[in-house]
Amino acid sequence: METIQSLLESKLRAALDPMPGVAPQVSAANDSRFGDYQSNVAMILAKQQRANPRQVAQQILDRLDVSGICQPPEIAGAGFINFRLTPAFLAARLEALHSDERLGVPAPAVPLRIVIDFSSPNVAKPMHVGHIRSTILGDALARIASFIGHEVIRDNHIGDWGTQFGMLLLGWKTELQPEALAADPLSEMERIYKLISARCKADPDTLESARGELVRLQGGDPENLSLWQEMIRLSQGQFDSIYGRLGVRFDVALGESFYNPHLKPVVDELRSRGIAVESEGAACVFSDGKLPQEEDPFLIKDQDGWRPNPALVQKSDGAFNYTTTDLATLRYRMETWAPHLIIYVTDGRQQLHFRQFFAVFQRWMPEAAQSVQLAHVWFGSILGEDGKPFKTRSGETIRLRDLLDEAEERALKIIATKNPDLSEAEQREIARIVGLGAVKYADLQPNRQSDYVFSWDKMLSLQGNTAPYLLYSYVRIRSIFRKGATEVGSETDAAIQLTEPAELALTRKLCLFGEVLPQVLQDFRPNLLAAYLYDLAASFHSFFEACPVLKAEPAVRHSRLVLCDVAARILQRGLDLLGIEVPERM
Ligand code: ARG
Repeated sequence: METIQSLLESKLRAALDPMPGVAPQVSAANDSRFGDYQSNVAMILAKQQRANPRQVAQQILDRLDVSGICQPPEIAGAGFINFRLTPAFLAARLEALHSDERLGVPAPAVPLRIVIDFSSPNVAKPMHVGHIRSTILGDALARIASFIGHEVIRDNHIGDWGTQFGMLLLGWKTELQPEALAADPLSEMERIYKLISARCKADPDTLESARGELVRLQGGDPENLSLWQEMIRLSQGQFDSIYGRLGVRFDVALGESFYNPHLKPVVDELRSRGIAVESEGAACVFSDGKLPQEEDPFLIKDQDGWRPNPALVQKSDGAFNYTTTDLATLRYRMETWAPHLIIYVTDGRQQLHFRQFFAVFQRWMPEAAQSVQLAHVWFGSILGEDGKPFKTRSGETIRLRDLLDEAEERALKIIATKNPDLSEAEQREIARIVGLGAVKYADLQPNRQSDYVFSWDKMLSLQGNTAPYLLYSYVRIRSIFRKGATEVGSETDAAIQLTEPAELALTRKLCLFGEVLPQVLQDFRPNLLAAYLYDLAASFHSFFEACPVLKAEPAVRHSRLVLCDVAARILQRGLDLLGIEVPERM
């Protein structure tokens, strides 16, 4: 189904002579006084032709045929063209939305193959609240991209290799408490890791032993390899239980260790082609001077001016690092899937890493780099109510598992007070949906790049831009159908008629779903979808206050039931695309 926006754009294109260098654009108006849609094409053309924009707008209107869609368009302000949709056109759109499984979301002109690298926790460390943003954001982007019609490969790039294993192995061999390990493997692994790591700082002998364990692991020592595998297995079990609760799945989970055999060849090639050079015993990539200094990731400015900020691809002790692994991983992904787009979802502190790694890739595989878009989709931090990084009272980082438990418990208290007559099992199920939904929505609703304050009271509130408010809106619509015991469609011969301003306003909102969703992928911002759903819910409530549904006369009642049905379906689908389930009661 074509969106109204693109329909109006094609009408404008047909009316333009000559075609301007840029395609005419139409966007939904923010303020209904300016109609429903607006275009600034006349202003752009007038600038090119050094003409009067209002006159250019008039010339366009003389040739523009939008009958059957809009009232005669108006020229406003400095030369905007304003479109106001007719009630009959809106009624026809509503009818079409009603029978469209895709709810008005157009298929992409070119379906893309997209790899999404997200979540990517580190083995032997509990998943903490920092990983929640990557997991929730990456999952939402994956859901949205596949619903739109792209091919999505969800890749969990687990951190299962690195220097931490030296300490873990030493701790495992000397300090492990088997009962503690059986009860909570990640906590026990974290305990031994912290213990040894603190000891290493104070005691050179411990540091030496930890290094020795690491060297033996890297050298393929069978005992260390099998302990390492056991650590991965135990971690994977806990990751999987979190993913299960969050409803997140992956197509592949190739950890960093998978790429070990490919690291040396990458560095050899970079060296032999002069992209990486020896510096203080390490292999480094320096600026090639082709970019303006401000944009060059291999330069950094201090009080003495610009100085080199090379990317390391091999340390002086011969070890490879995060960048080396990412390069090898990227080559593997290009060879395996030939994707058009790869999205990396991590926190904002990794921006320099990704800018450097993307730039090294450009120089290393210029042709491949032409065929793929690489996007580092980064996000800000979660803060506590005191404005500092979100921690437990005793200053520990918060475990994801504890956080999800608390979300469900807190939601349960609210649900139990509000619905004392539901069975406990029902209360628990609703609390699960509401609690997890609240955490996810609080994470997706702000602009991803801003830090946000984690507040249980705010995210669980029924008022404001929250998951409970949206879920409640959905449940309220569904209850209309329960009360009326009618499924829409039973009176299909009745034509849809829209007359009330609130009906028309809600229909316009419903038609925007297909325009908003593709926008989310333009800059990878699920918050646009969240904002849309919040608007839609508000628009539904205004409609519901102004327009009786079940008590209306039959023809009007049918139209209003269709409005309710499409609104419920879009809310449900939109929330699902954010990874949020809906309850039928609440
Ligand atoms: N394991 C890393 C971390 O926890 C994130 C990995 C992100 N993906 C990547 N290809 N670098 O910070």
